Amino acid sequence: MLRLDKYISNATDLSRTDAKRMIKNGVVCIDNEVASNPAQKISDDQDVTIEGSTISKASKRYFMLHKPAGVVSVTKDNHNPTAISLMYEHRSDELQIAGRLDIDTTGLLLITDDGQWNHRLTSPRADCAKIYQVELAEAITSEYPQLLADGVMLEGEKHRCMPATMEIVDDHNINLTIAEGKYHQVKRMFAALGNHVVSLHRFKVGGIVLDPELQPGEYRPLTALEVASIL
Ligand code: URA
Repeated sequence: MLRLDKYISNATDLSRTDAKRMIKNGVVCIDNEVASNPAQKISDDQDVTIEGSTISKASKRYFMLHKPAGVVSVTKDNHNPTAISLMYEHRSDELQIAGRLDIDTTGLLLITDDGQWNHRLTSPRADCAKIYQVELAEAITSEYPQLLADGVMLEGEKHRCMPATMEIVDDHNINLTIAEGKYHQVKRMFAALGNHVVSLHRFKVGGIVLDPELQPGEYRPLTALEVASIL
């Protein structure tokens, strides 16, 4: 639900002040009734018109950002640049980060103002695969694939992680696929195996792959297909 004046400014080029003026002038209707209150809440199924023309519903925004190291995945931070501060978007206060990365982790960060889409992606029940390039301090051992498939027991947790799979790149580098997003999950998984993560880079979430054209710090809107791939 959005206030009428905000709904109009989201869906058109009008500012909120312009929207309020239009409402005062009696040219805005909600479901064929002239609207008078800019604070009236509008739901998705209502039809808002200005001078008889329906304005399109405020469309949701979806982006992928190539997160550099040193940038935090929270919306406000007094000490470090935030992922959102790298973006030149209107109403950036409405953007949310869908699935955080640690300050030193690089790669695919998804950003949206669609709370439901964010929830579908990040809810513990979503079971959405994430793939990380993991560089390890110690060489991997032949037991790793089975230990990961059995579900690693993280310190301080009551339940094992969901099964994870790995693809070997070389003896210190793997591509790891996990379905969950627990706090510091990958670092804690390898700590539990007696190893240490040297660097971590996420390159895939569900069906969305980090665009190789994006340099660290750059971002682009998601395509309709990418958005729809998160069901
Ligand atoms: N797991 C981690 O430990 N860190 C991240 O940033 C993402 C997954």
